[in-house]
Amino acid sequence: MRILVTGASGHLGFHLVRYLERVGSGAEKDRLELVAAFGKTPVSCEFANAKSLELRNPDACRGLLNEFQPTHIVHAAAMANTTECEQNPELAAAVNTDGTRNLLEAAAALKSKPHFSLISTDLVFDGAKGNYSEVDNTNPLMVYGRTKLEGERIASSSGLPLAILRSALIFGPLDRERPSFLYWLLEGIKGRAVTLFDDEFRTPVYVEDLCSGIWSAMQQEVTGIVHLAGAERRSRYNFALLVAEVFGIPTEHVVRGLLADAKLPFQRPVDVSMNISQARRILGFAPLSNRSALEIIRDSV
Ligand SMILES: NC(=O)c1ccc[n+]([C@@H]2O[C@H](COP(=O)([O-])OP(=O)(O)OC[C@H]3O[C@@H](n4cnc5c(N)ncnc54)[C@H](OP(=O)(O)O)[C@@H]3O)[C@@H](O)[C@H]2O)c1
Repeated sequence: MRILVTGASGHLGFHLVRYLERVGSGAEKDRLELVAAFGKTPVSCEFANAKSLELRNPDACRGLLNEFQPTHIVHAAAMANTTECEQNPELAAAVNTDGTRNLLEAAAALKSKPHFSLISTDLVFDGAKGNYSEVDNTNPLMVYGRTKLEGERIASSSGLPLAILRSALIFGPLDRERPSFLYWLLEGIKGRAVTLFDDEFRTPVYVEDLCSGIWSAMQQEVTGIVHLAGAERRSRYNFALLVAEVFGIPTEHVVRGLLADAKLPFQRPVDVSMNISQARRILGFAPLSNRSALEIIRDSV
């Protein structure tokens, strides 16, 4: 396998490269070559080859793919901050939609077509229903979700063997350089009271579980949409209470608020929890409980 991971300097991409390096250092050692592509932030890897790749540049995409000839691509790079996407919708579209198109076109032009895993998001849904399965209608409310869904649409018609892997709120090791939302949550509630919504629901997923799901999808060369989320539907408030408990932070620091009462500059979906039955069935996906995952993160600090 010759695997290209984009977004290798981001939270998911960084941990996915480490996961694949672990897989590759075992029995698969001689069968796995890895390129870790970053945007502006260089990364260093154990045995993956780190390369810079500006997704908005179609020539750069073609150049890297022609040189490496990947058999598998995991496209995890994105402009993933929802507020920044609202503030700069042109850039969000240029990265999440046009950048994805550039990579897909470069992949489709290769003689030997690689398997493509597009990492997408629960925010393609409007949150009116919750417990979303792969066949439910999409209707993103925010710029981020709209630009990611447009990427999904282009991917679906690329002609490549392709999986759309929709993830939920990702949490993982506490790393200031590549923070997940858990890092910011802990930084907040350690020292003061923070208000979190109790009427906004997601299915938070531990990054190592997500990596194992992506790896299974690549190995099986799965096609179509698969939801890779955690198994528990939680409000942000409820998740923060669990975090406080596991990390020994006074639970008074977690204050209950309501999205319904907040005056936000843009609309946020209420319940984008996802159903992972299909991932369980076809990939054997078995995410840890949020508590167990948080305990692992706490004990590794
Ligand atoms: N975080 C979540 O909770 C969440 C939830 C659901 C789905 N997802 C999806 O999961 C994937 C990974 O998210 P994440 O949280 O790991 O994101 P992240 O930490 O914000 O990292 C984003 C990555 O994308 C790269 N990137 C951004 N613009 C680029 C460009 N123009 N050209 C090349 N690379 C560029 C960044 O590279 P540089 O920093 O080097 O420029 C970085 O490596 C994304 O596809 C996201 O949509 C995330």
